[in-house]
Amino acid sequence: MAIKVAILGYGTVGEGVYKGIQNHQEQLIEKLGDAVEVAGILVRDPLKKRDVQPGTFITTRFEEILAIPGLHAVFEAIVGKEPGYTYLSQCIEKGCHVITANKVLFAKYGNELLKKSKQHGVHIGYEATTAGAVPIIRTLQELLKVNRVTRIQGILNGTSNFILTEMRANRLSFGEALKLAQDNGYAEANPENDVEGKDAACKLKILCQLAFGCTPDWEEVEVEGIAAITSGEVQKAEAEGFRYKHIADIRAEGGKLKASVKPIAVSSAHPLFSVEGVDNAITLETSLAGNLTLQGAGAGKFPTASAMLEDFSAILEKSLRTKIHLLSARVPV
Ligand SMILES: NC(=O)c1ccc[n+]([C@@H]2O[C@H](COP(=O)([O-])OP(=O)(O)OC[C@H]3O[C@@H](n4cnc5c(N)ncnc54)[C@H](OP(=O)(O)O)[C@@H]3O)[C@@H](O)[C@H]2O)c1
Repeated sequence: MAIKVAILGYGTVGEGVYKGIQNHQEQLIEKLGDAVEVAGILVRDPLKKRDVQPGTFITTRFEEILAIPGLHAVFEAIVGKEPGYTYLSQCIEKGCHVITANKVLFAKYGNELLKKSKQHGVHIGYEATTAGAVPIIRTLQELLKVNRVTRIQGILNGTSNFILTEMRANRLSFGEALKLAQDNGYAEANPENDVEGKDAACKLKILCQLAFGCTPDWEEVEVEGIAAITSGEVQKAEAEGFRYKHIADIRAEGGKLKASVKPIAVSSAHPLFSVEGVDNAITLETSLAGNLTLQGAGAGKFPTASAMLEDFSAILEKSLRTKIHLLSARVPV
Protein backbone atom coordinates (compact mmCIF):
# COMPACT_ATOMS: atom_id res chain seq x y z
CA MET A 1 0.00 0.00 0.00
CA ALA A 2 1.33 3.46 -0.90
CA ILE A 3 2.67 5.74 1.83
CA LYS A 4 0.36 8.74 1.80
CA VAL A 5 1.74 12.24 2.30
CA ALA A 6 0.42 15.78 1.95
CA ILE A 7 2.24 19.00 1.11
CA LEU A 8 1.23 22.29 2.74
CA GLY A 9 2.24 25.09 0.35
CA TYR A 10 3.16 24.74 -3.29
CA GLY A 11 5.69 27.52 -3.82
CA THR A 12 9.43 27.07 -4.40
CA VAL A 13 9.89 24.47 -1.66
CA GLY A 14 6.51 22.66 -1.90
CA GLU A 15 6.97 22.16 -5.62
CA GLY A 16 10.53 20.90 -5.04
CA VAL A 17 9.20 18.32 -2.58
CA TYR A 18 6.46 17.22 -5.00
CA LYS A 19 8.89 16.85 -7.92
CA GLY A 20 11.51 15.20 -5.71
CA ILE A 21 8.94 12.57 -4.71
CA GLN A 22 7.86 11.98 -8.34
CA ASN A 23 11.47 11.71 -9.57
CA HIS A 24 12.77 9.50 -6.75
CA GLN A 25 10.07 6.85 -6.45
CA GLU A 26 12.58 4.11 -7.21
CA GLN A 27 14.85 5.17 -4.34
CA LEU A 28 11.89 5.68 -1.99
CA ILE A 29 10.44 2.23 -2.78
CA GLU A 30 13.84 0.64 -2.23
CA LYS A 31 14.30 2.39 1.13
CA LEU A 32 10.74 2.32 2.46
CA GLY A 33 9.29 -0.74 0.76
CA ASP A 34 6.35 1.16 -0.79
CA ALA A 35 5.67 3.95 -3.24
CA VAL A 36 4.99 7.44 -1.86
CA GLU A 37 1.72 9.04 -2.94
CA VAL A 38 1.09 12.78 -2.68
CA ALA A 39 -2.51 12.48 -1.50
CA GLY A 40 -3.16 16.21 -1.13
CA ILE A 41 -1.67 19.68 -1.56
CA LEU A 42 -2.77 22.76 0.40
CA VAL A 43 -2.50 26.18 -1.27
CA ARG A 44 -3.89 29.65 -0.65
CA ASP A 45 -4.81 30.70 -4.18
CA PRO A 46 -7.12 28.19 -5.91
CA LEU A 47 -6.75 29.89 -9.31
CA LYS A 48 -2.95 29.65 -9.73
CA LYS A 49 -1.81 27.11 -12.35
CA ARG A 50 0.17 24.24 -10.73
CA ASP A 51 2.51 21.90 -12.52
CA VAL A 52 1.18 18.61 -11.08
CA GLN A 53 -0.02 15.32 -12.50
CA PRO A 54 -3.68 15.28 -13.62
CA GLY A 55 -6.02 14.21 -10.83
CA THR A 56 -3.78 15.51 -8.01
CA PHE A 57 -5.95 16.67 -5.10
CA ILE A 58 -5.36 20.39 -4.46
CA THR A 59 -7.36 22.31 -1.87
CA THR A 60 -7.43 25.58 0.03
CA ARG A 61 -9.14 23.90 3.00
CA PHE A 62 -6.81 22.39 5.60
CA GLU A 63 -9.65 20.26 7.08
CA GLU A 64 -9.72 18.35 3.79
CA ILE A 65 -6.03 17.54 4.11
CA LEU A 66 -6.47 16.40 7.72
CA ALA A 67 -9.37 14.18 6.66
CA ILE A 68 -7.30 12.17 4.15
CA PRO A 69 -7.56 8.57 5.42
CA GLY A 70 -4.27 6.90 6.38
CA LEU A 71 -2.14 10.05 6.01
CA HIS A 72 1.41 9.17 7.17
CA ALA A 73 3.30 12.45 6.92
CA VAL A 74 2.87 16.12 6.11
CA PHE A 75 5.49 18.38 4.50
CA GLU A 76 5.01 21.99 5.58
CA ALA A 77 6.34 24.71 3.27
CA ILE A 78 4.20 27.78 3.90
CA VAL A 79 5.35 31.11 5.24
CA GLY A 80 5.21 32.60 8.75
CA LYS A 81 4.28 31.34 12.23
CA GLU A 82 0.58 31.02 11.48
CA PRO A 83 -1.34 29.18 10.19
CA GLY A 84 1.61 26.74 10.04
CA TYR A 85 1.80 26.21 13.82
CA THR A 86 -1.91 25.43 14.12
CA TYR A 87 -1.78 23.10 11.12
CA LEU A 88 1.29 21.20 12.35
CA SER A 89 -0.17 20.88 15.85
CA GLN A 90 -3.31 19.32 14.41
CA CYS A 91 -1.31 16.95 12.16
CA ILE A 92 0.69 15.75 15.17
CA GLU A 93 -2.45 15.28 17.26
CA LYS A 94 -3.84 13.18 14.45
CA GLY A 95 -0.74 10.95 14.50
CA CYS A 96 1.02 12.24 11.37
CA HIS A 97 4.77 12.76 11.16
CA VAL A 98 5.64 16.30 10.11
CA ILE A 99 8.55 17.71 8.15
CA THR A 100 8.94 21.47 8.03
CA ALA A 101 11.08 24.03 6.19
CA ASN A 102 9.53 26.93 8.07
CA LYS A 103 12.30 28.45 10.20
CA VAL A 104 10.25 31.37 11.52
CA LEU A 105 7.66 28.95 12.85
CA PHE A 106 10.20 26.47 14.19
CA ALA A 107 12.42 29.08 15.88
CA LYS A 108 9.34 30.20 17.85
CA TYR A 109 7.41 26.97 18.39
CA GLY A 110 9.98 24.19 17.86
CA ASN A 111 10.04 23.16 21.53
CA GLU A 112 6.25 22.98 21.83
CA LEU A 113 6.00 20.94 18.64
CA LEU A 114 8.76 18.54 19.70
CA LYS A 115 7.06 18.02 23.07
CA LYS A 116 3.72 17.43 21.40
CA SER A 117 5.23 14.99 18.92
CA LYS A 118 6.64 12.90 21.79
CA GLN A 119 3.23 12.78 23.46
CA HIS A 120 1.66 11.54 20.24
CA GLY A 121 4.41 9.11 19.22
CA VAL A 122 5.32 10.83 15.95
CA HIS A 123 8.47 12.48 14.63
CA ILE A 124 9.34 15.98 13.40
CA GLY A 125 11.92 16.65 10.70
CA TYR A 126 13.30 20.19 10.61
CA GLU A 127 16.60 19.87 8.75
CA ALA A 128 15.34 22.21 6.01
CA THR A 129 14.81 25.09 8.46
CA THR A 130 18.55 25.69 8.76
CA ALA A 131 21.12 25.89 5.96
CA GLY A 132 19.07 24.14 3.26
CA ALA A 133 20.73 20.97 2.01
CA VAL A 134 23.57 21.10 4.56
CA PRO A 135 22.86 18.26 7.02
CA ILE A 136 23.66 20.26 10.15
CA ILE A 137 20.65 19.18 12.23
CA ARG A 138 21.31 15.50 11.59
CA THR A 139 25.03 15.99 12.29
CA LEU A 140 24.30 17.66 15.62
CA GLN A 141 21.80 14.95 16.55
CA GLU A 142 24.41 12.28 15.79
CA LEU A 143 27.29 14.09 17.50
CA LEU A 144 25.41 14.88 20.64
CA LYS A 145 25.14 11.25 21.62
CA VAL A 146 28.53 11.59 23.32
CA ASN A 147 30.32 14.81 22.25
CA ARG A 148 29.74 18.20 23.79
CA VAL A 149 29.44 21.06 21.32
CA THR A 150 31.19 24.11 22.70
CA ARG A 151 30.76 26.60 19.84
CA ILE A 152 28.85 26.98 16.58
CA GLN A 153 29.74 29.57 13.97
CA GLY A 154 27.73 29.72 10.78
CA ILE A 155 27.18 31.57 7.56
CA LEU A 156 23.43 30.95 7.61
CA ASN A 157 22.13 33.44 5.06
CA GLY A 158 23.12 32.87 1.44
CA THR A 159 21.87 36.29 0.28
CA SER A 160 24.18 38.14 2.69
CA ASN A 161 27.09 35.93 1.76
CA PHE A 162 26.45 36.53 -1.95
CA ILE A 163 26.36 40.31 -1.44
CA LEU A 164 29.58 40.34 0.62
CA THR A 165 31.29 38.14 -1.97
CA GLU A 166 30.27 40.44 -4.83
CA MET A 167 31.37 43.52 -2.88
CA ARG A 168 34.80 41.97 -2.38
CA ALA A 169 35.45 40.04 -5.58
CA ASN A 170 33.80 42.42 -8.07
CA ARG A 171 34.09 45.65 -6.10
CA LEU A 172 30.33 46.33 -6.19
CA SER A 173 28.65 48.70 -3.76
CA PHE A 174 26.12 47.20 -1.29
CA GLY A 175 23.24 48.54 -3.44
CA GLU A 176 24.67 47.09 -6.68
CA ALA A 177 25.33 43.71 -5.08
CA LEU A 178 21.82 43.62 -3.57
CA LYS A 179 20.29 44.40 -6.97
CA LEU A 180 22.34 41.59 -8.54
CA ALA A 181 21.10 39.21 -5.80
CA GLN A 182 17.52 40.26 -6.56
CA ASP A 183 18.01 39.90 -10.34
CA ASN A 184 19.36 36.36 -9.77
CA GLY A 185 16.42 35.42 -7.53
CA TYR A 186 18.61 35.12 -4.39
CA ALA A 187 16.97 38.03 -2.57
CA GLU A 188 13.33 38.96 -2.01
CA ALA A 189 11.91 42.26 -3.28
CA ASN A 190 11.89 43.18 0.43
CA PRO A 191 15.34 41.94 1.55
CA GLU A 192 15.07 43.09 5.19
CA ASN A 193 15.01 39.63 6.79
CA ASP A 194 18.17 38.63 4.96
CA VAL A 195 20.33 41.76 5.08
CA GLU A 196 19.31 42.84 8.60
CA GLY A 197 20.38 39.50 10.10
CA LYS A 198 16.88 38.37 11.19
CA ASP A 199 16.88 35.22 9.05
CA ALA A 200 20.30 34.12 10.35
CA ALA A 201 19.18 34.83 13.94
CA CYS A 202 16.15 32.53 13.51
CA LYS A 203 18.39 29.71 12.31
CA LEU A 204 20.89 30.30 15.13
CA LYS A 205 18.04 29.92 17.65
CA ILE A 206 17.17 26.52 16.19
CA LEU A 207 20.80 25.33 16.26
CA CYS A 208 21.33 26.70 19.76
CA GLN A 209 18.31 24.90 21.21
CA LEU A 210 19.43 21.63 19.66
CA ALA A 211 23.11 21.88 20.56
CA PHE A 212 22.82 23.36 24.06
CA GLY A 213 19.28 22.43 25.09
CA CYS A 214 18.62 26.05 26.11
CA THR A 215 19.05 29.53 24.70
CA PRO A 216 20.48 32.85 25.88
CA ASP A 217 18.18 35.80 26.43
CA TRP A 218 17.59 36.70 22.78
CA GLU A 219 16.61 40.25 23.72
CA GLU A 220 20.23 40.78 24.72
CA VAL A 221 21.81 39.14 21.67
CA GLU A 222 23.51 41.51 19.26
CA VAL A 223 21.89 41.08 15.82
CA GLU A 224 23.40 43.18 13.08
CA GLY A 225 23.03 42.75 9.33
CA ILE A 226 25.31 43.72 6.47
CA ALA A 227 23.40 46.77 5.20
CA ALA A 228 25.78 49.26 6.83
CA ILE A 229 29.00 47.83 5.39
CA THR A 230 30.67 50.03 2.78
CA SER A 231 32.73 48.83 -0.16
CA GLY A 232 35.61 50.89 1.30
CA GLU A 233 35.58 48.71 4.45
CA VAL A 234 35.40 45.52 2.38
CA GLN A 235 38.33 46.61 0.17
CA LYS A 236 40.43 47.68 3.17
CA ALA A 237 39.86 44.29 4.83
CA GLU A 238 40.75 42.53 1.57
CA ALA A 239 44.03 44.50 1.28
CA GLU A 240 44.94 43.36 4.81
CA GLY A 241 44.15 39.68 4.06
CA PHE A 242 40.70 39.63 5.69
CA ARG A 243 37.19 38.95 4.35
CA TYR A 244 33.92 40.13 5.81
CA LYS A 245 31.58 37.23 6.58
CA HIS A 246 28.16 37.48 8.21
CA ILE A 247 28.56 35.09 11.13
CA ALA A 248 25.99 33.72 13.54
CA ASP A 249 27.94 32.63 16.59
CA ILE A 250 26.99 30.84 19.81
CA ARG A 251 29.43 29.61 22.40
CA ALA A 252 29.45 28.26 25.94
CA GLU A 253 31.70 30.49 28.04
CA GLY A 254 32.07 30.45 31.81
CA GLY A 255 28.86 28.45 32.24
CA LYS A 256 26.89 30.92 30.10
CA LEU A 257 25.82 31.02 26.47
CA LYS A 258 27.05 33.98 24.44
CA ALA A 259 25.59 34.68 21.03
CA SER A 260 25.96 37.27 18.29
CA VAL A 261 24.89 37.66 14.67
CA LYS A 262 27.01 40.19 12.80
CA PRO A 263 29.56 40.83 10.05
CA ILE A 264 33.09 39.93 11.08
CA ALA A 265 36.36 40.36 9.17
CA VAL A 266 38.02 36.92 9.30
CA SER A 267 41.53 35.89 8.30
CA SER A 268 42.43 33.05 5.92
CA ALA A 269 42.95 30.82 8.97
CA HIS A 270 39.21 30.94 9.76
CA PRO A 271 37.22 27.92 8.49
CA LEU A 272 34.55 30.19 6.96
CA PHE A 273 37.01 32.46 5.05
CA SER A 274 36.61 30.60 1.72
CA VAL A 275 32.82 30.16 1.83
CA GLU A 276 31.67 32.28 -1.09
CA GLY A 277 28.53 33.17 -3.07
CA VAL A 278 25.17 31.82 -1.90
CA ASP A 279 26.68 28.90 -0.01
CA ASN A 280 26.01 28.35 3.69
CA ALA A 281 28.52 26.75 6.06
CA ILE A 282 28.67 25.85 9.71
CA THR A 283 31.70 25.12 11.80
CA LEU A 284 31.34 23.21 15.05
CA GLU A 285 33.78 23.03 17.94
CA THR A 286 33.29 19.76 19.77
CA SER A 287 34.79 18.04 22.79
CA LEU A 288 35.91 14.83 21.08
CA ALA A 289 35.56 15.19 17.31
CA GLY A 290 37.47 18.49 17.24
CA ASN A 291 36.43 21.09 14.65
CA LEU A 292 34.04 20.13 11.87
CA THR A 293 32.86 22.31 8.99
CA LEU A 294 29.92 21.56 6.71
CA GLN A 295 29.24 23.59 3.57
CA GLY A 296 26.68 23.57 0.76
CA ALA A 297 23.58 25.08 -0.81
CA GLY A 298 21.69 26.96 1.87
CA ALA A 299 18.41 27.41 -0.02
CA GLY A 300 16.66 26.76 -3.33
CA LYS A 301 13.95 24.44 -4.58
CA PHE A 302 15.80 21.13 -4.73
CA PRO A 303 18.44 21.60 -2.00
CA THR A 304 15.62 22.41 0.45
CA ALA A 305 13.46 19.56 -0.84
CA SER A 306 16.48 17.28 -0.45
CA ALA A 307 16.70 18.07 3.27
CA MET A 308 12.95 17.43 3.68
CA LEU A 309 12.95 14.15 1.78
CA GLU A 310 16.00 12.84 3.66
CA ASP A 311 14.20 13.70 6.92
CA PHE A 312 11.07 11.94 5.67
CA SER A 313 12.95 8.79 4.73
CA ALA A 314 14.81 8.70 8.07
CA ILE A 315 11.56 9.26 10.00
CA LEU A 316 9.69 6.50 8.20
CA GLU A 317 12.55 4.06 8.67
CA LYS A 318 12.68 4.97 12.37
CA SER A 319 8.94 4.48 12.84
CA LEU A 320 9.09 1.16 10.94
CA ARG A 321 11.88 -0.04 13.26
CA THR A 322 9.82 0.98 16.31
CA LYS A 323 6.82 -0.98 15.02
CA ILE A 324 8.92 -4.09 14.37
CA HIS A 325 10.45 -3.77 17.83
CA LEU A 326 7.01 -3.48 19.47
CA LEU A 327 5.67 -6.43 17.49
CA SER A 328 8.65 -8.66 18.33
CA ALA A 329 8.29 -7.69 22.01
CA ARG A 330 4.75 -9.09 21.90
CA VAL A 331 5.73 -12.46 20.37
CA PRO A 332 5.41 -15.10 23.13
CA VAL A 333 8.53 -17.24 23.68
N1 LIG B 1 12.82 29.16 -0.76
C1 LIG B 1 13.84 28.56 -0.14
O1 LIG B 1 14.89 28.32 -0.71
C2 LIG B 1 13.67 28.13 1.31
C3 LIG B 1 14.75 27.46 1.92
C4 LIG B 1 14.58 27.00 3.25
C5 LIG B 1 13.38 27.24 3.91
N2 LIG B 1 12.38 27.92 3.27
C6 LIG B 1 11.11 28.10 4.01
O2 LIG B 1 10.11 27.30 3.37
C7 LIG B 1 8.85 27.94 3.43
C8 LIG B 1 8.30 28.10 2.03
O3 LIG B 1 9.16 28.92 1.27
P1 LIG B 1 8.94 29.15 -0.30
O4 LIG B 1 10.15 29.87 -0.78
O5 LIG B 1 8.52 27.90 -0.95
O6 LIG B 1 7.71 30.18 -0.25
P2 LIG B 1 6.74 30.57 -1.45
O7 LIG B 1 7.39 30.27 -2.77
O8 LIG B 1 6.28 31.95 -1.16
O9 LIG B 1 5.51 29.56 -1.29
C9 LIG B 1 4.64 29.58 -0.20
C10 LIG B 1 3.48 28.64 -0.47
O10 LIG B 1 2.69 28.60 0.70
C11 LIG B 1 1.33 28.80 0.32
N3 LIG B 1 0.67 29.50 1.43
C12 LIG B 1 1.00 30.66 2.00
N4 LIG B 1 0.15 30.95 3.00
C13 LIG B 1 -0.75 29.96 3.04
C14 LIG B 1 -1.91 29.69 3.81
N5 LIG B 1 -2.31 30.53 4.77
N6 LIG B 1 -2.60 28.54 3.58
C15 LIG B 1 -2.22 27.71 2.60
N7 LIG B 1 -1.13 27.91 1.82
C16 LIG B 1 -0.42 29.02 2.03
C17 LIG B 1 1.36 29.64 -0.94
O11 LIG B 1 0.16 29.41 -1.64
P3 LIG B 1 -0.14 30.06 -3.08
O12 LIG B 1 0.78 29.34 -4.03
O13 LIG B 1 -1.55 29.73 -3.32
O14 LIG B 1 0.16 31.51 -2.95
C18 LIG B 1 2.60 29.06 -1.63
O15 LIG B 1 2.24 27.93 -2.39
C19 LIG B 1 9.07 29.27 4.17
O16 LIG B 1 8.74 29.10 5.52
C20 LIG B 1 10.57 29.52 3.99
O17 LIG B 1 11.13 30.28 5.05
C21 LIG B 1 12.49 28.36 1.99
